[in-house]
Amino acid sequence: MKLLLKDILNMAEARFTREGCLTPRLDAELLFCHMLKKDKSWLFLHYGDELDDKICEEYFRLVDIRAGGMPLQYITGSQEFMGLPFRVNEKVLIPRQDTEILVEKALEILKARKETRGGFRILDLCCGSGAIAVSLAYYLKKAKRKAAVLGSDISSDALEVAKENARINGVDRQIRFVEGDLFGPFPKNRKDRGRKQFDMIVCNPPYIPTGVLPTLMREVREHEPLLALDGGEDGLDFYRRILEEAWRYLVEEGVLLLEIGYDQGITVPLLAEEAGAYGPVEIIKDLAGKDRVAVIKRNENADRSNVKR
Ligand SMILES: C[S@@+](CC[C@H](N)C(=O)[O-])C[C@H]1O[C@@H](n2cnc3c(N)ncnc32)[C@H](O)[C@@H]1O
Repeated sequence: MKLLLKDILNMAEARFTREGCLTPRLDAELLFCHMLKKDKSWLFLHYGDELDDKICEEYFRLVDIRAGGMPLQYITGSQEFMGLPFRVNEKVLIPRQDTEILVEKALEILKARKETRGGFRILDLCCGSGAIAVSLAYYLKKAKRKAAVLGSDISSDALEVAKENARINGVDRQIRFVEGDLFGPFPKNRKDRGRKQFDMIVCNPPYIPTGVLPTLMREVREHEPLLALDGGEDGLDFYRRILEEAWRYLVEEGVLLLEIGYDQGITVPLLAEEAGAYGPVEIIKDLAGKDRVAVIKRNENADRSNVKR
């Protein structure tokens, strides 16, 4: 007796539920769509169809992989972010919806400003899949605002993915990618203070405290790159390093936007204050009402003030 499409979807849903998957029905459907390269409307029209044994076999192979904890996005190789398609693999963090808050705020700030000659100069530090850099380049281009975006990451594998995403979204001429450790690859002037070269720096750094990593969901813990998650003992290592350096690379009116963890909305502004080169910090909440983004303006007097050197 042949299985019907609705039967195997129900079986996959039940299996995913048992394995603790958060969206079992959706995952069952998306996995099938991915396998046959169909969209969800096709699925609804064919629920009652009998399926070939070969198709069932291949589907259950994918169900096994998903039930074993592999995130759906790494199986399908894709994730939508800011309404745009992104390729992903296990070398990059899967772009999160929370990060869209940072992109939206960055666009709001930039669109309210007059671009400098040659366009806005934007740096996406720790760019991973390129989600932030590509979205900014795409939506600024769409709004007919000129921008040159630079994405940087310490992982050459991640940069390969980011380059592909720039190509897929038609912004490869607006973005350049550079490999290196935070500000390491960027030119410094004779006094080794960096050069004021960016109107905006955006960054979603690794910010999970090392001790918390073993408590993350299995899918994240076992499949997403540790390099993208581990923020050091208290989760703040990257913020300290970035805040110490970012002002040197920002123009006088420059802005730094940092994604932060839900419990870092007090400590990150304190670190900014300690660095001595920034004005008051604005914290933006995500859709769940949790602190998510720090908007940090360079202090106009940063060069003259008593900042850490
Ligand atoms: C949380 S992920 C963010 C990825 C992407 N920006 C996003 O929002 O989806 C952090 C990224 O930082 C990169 N990274 C880790 N250590 C780094 C370092 N020292 N310098 C530059 N990038 C680093 C990782 O490779 C990873 O791609």
